[in-house]
Amino acid sequence: MAEKLWKGRFEQPTDKLVEEYTSSIHFDSRLYRYDIEGSIAHCRMLAECRIISHDEASSIVQALGEILRDIERGQVALDSSQEDIHMAIENELTARIGETGGKLHTARSRNDQVALDMRLFMRDALSGILDLVRNVQSTLVATAERYIDVIMPGFTHLQHAQPILFSHHLMAYYEMFGRDFARFGDCLIRTDVMPLGSAALAGTTFPTDMEWTARQLGFPRVVANSMDAVSDRDYLIEFCSDSAILMMHVSRMAEELIIWSSPEFAFIEISDAFCTGSSIMPQKKNPDVPELMRGKTGRVYGNLIALLTMTKGLPLAYNRDLQEDKEPVFDTVDTLVATLRLLSKMLPEIRINRDRMARMAVHNFTLATDLADYLVRRGIPFRKAHHVVGQVVQYCIRNGKELSECSLEELKTFHKAFDEDVFQCLEVSSVIDRRKSLGGTATSRVKEAIARARAELEACETKGNRKPEK
Ligand code: ARG
Repeated sequence: MAEKLWKGRFEQPTDKLVEEYTSSIHFDSRLYRYDIEGSIAHCRMLAECRIISHDEASSIVQALGEILRDIERGQVALDSSQEDIHMAIENELTARIGETGGKLHTARSRNDQVALDMRLFMRDALSGILDLVRNVQSTLVATAERYIDVIMPGFTHLQHAQPILFSHHLMAYYEMFGRDFARFGDCLIRTDVMPLGSAALAGTTFPTDMEWTARQLGFPRVVANSMDAVSDRDYLIEFCSDSAILMMHVSRMAEELIIWSSPEFAFIEISDAFCTGSSIMPQKKNPDVPELMRGKTGRVYGNLIALLTMTKGLPLAYNRDLQEDKEPVFDTVDTLVATLRLLSKMLPEIRINRDRMARMAVHNFTLATDLADYLVRRGIPFRKAHHVVGQVVQYCIRNGKELSECSLEELKTFHKAFDEDVFQCLEVSSVIDRRKSLGGTATSRVKEAIARARAELEACETKGNRKPEK
């Protein structure tokens, strides 16, 4: 392993297994850009506050810029000979400019450094994820608009319930992802706090200016307590929690796509580009993408539990346990990015079997509520109307017919209030369009919801900055 920056106090070399066990370079090397960005800001602040000279700062900043370039070209070995990314970069710096490099770590520690790196990383990751969530929402709105006249059965208990617009169903997901968007935006506010300068735990004896560093790095706020600064992982837990909820939404949609594409439902067909075949059954076309979306929800939940368990009962301030925060967070970011990207791509390519959906929309007595409502409009109390229609349904089941196949005479044997106009009220389009209550499935309401969504998405775009207001 490379020379240890903390070797002064030690007499014996570190055990090989311990080096392997404690090293985090194989996953935290991903933070190199943020580590260098933070170090450059810190170094400039040290010069600004006359803690190091401007000449020293210039040579450190220049060398850090070169290290960044060389890492990106693959010319700096970020391998297991280094303990972590912070040490690797500092070692590289000293190798390049000698002792002056050793001045960079004045008035900071790796505890606040790693906290800064993770906040910088998370800030970027969150704004990328916010964009991707908006993309999924745009795709949903476009699909809802395109299929505005498609009718399908709505389900409760996975049993046919009442006819709805397919668009209404899609717009329900728009709302769910809207809440995810708001949650991630909220998480960003608590992530956007600058911890560097808290040093190991207690602050520093040097006359630093943390607000200056914060301005350099575009943070609106500085931490209020140095101990909290180095031990806080709430923003990561919050991110993983928001991600768990988002993936729960994705998995619900994925499940619907899977069952809807089965021959039993036959509502949709997922494009070949998003399916795979079987190694033994030549006829198979499997919905693997939504299945994996559903499956990957598990690891995102697991990552949340890993972080909560890691922090449970941890005494203040920094403990090495906290190094374990990175893999669950990186894995969650990667899973979300890949899933959301694919979801936006897959949705527009789904083929809709509108005839089958429309046929099923009126199958299995889905108009029964409307028949009861018809009686209610004729003054019959709802409970009574419910009972009467229940008996009509029972009669239909026995005689193998649908409600609309009953004659007026047959209906009248159940209640005299049934009249000619009952058949009109059982027209599926009027069944849908009568549901004009706020947020209902009436075409006019769904069109309103689509227009509202469009305005919301556009407002977000013209702001150019998807970060929520502070
Ligand atoms: N690799 C460490 C982490 O990710 C950096 C901080 C180490 N601090 C320490 N006192 N050992 O948490």
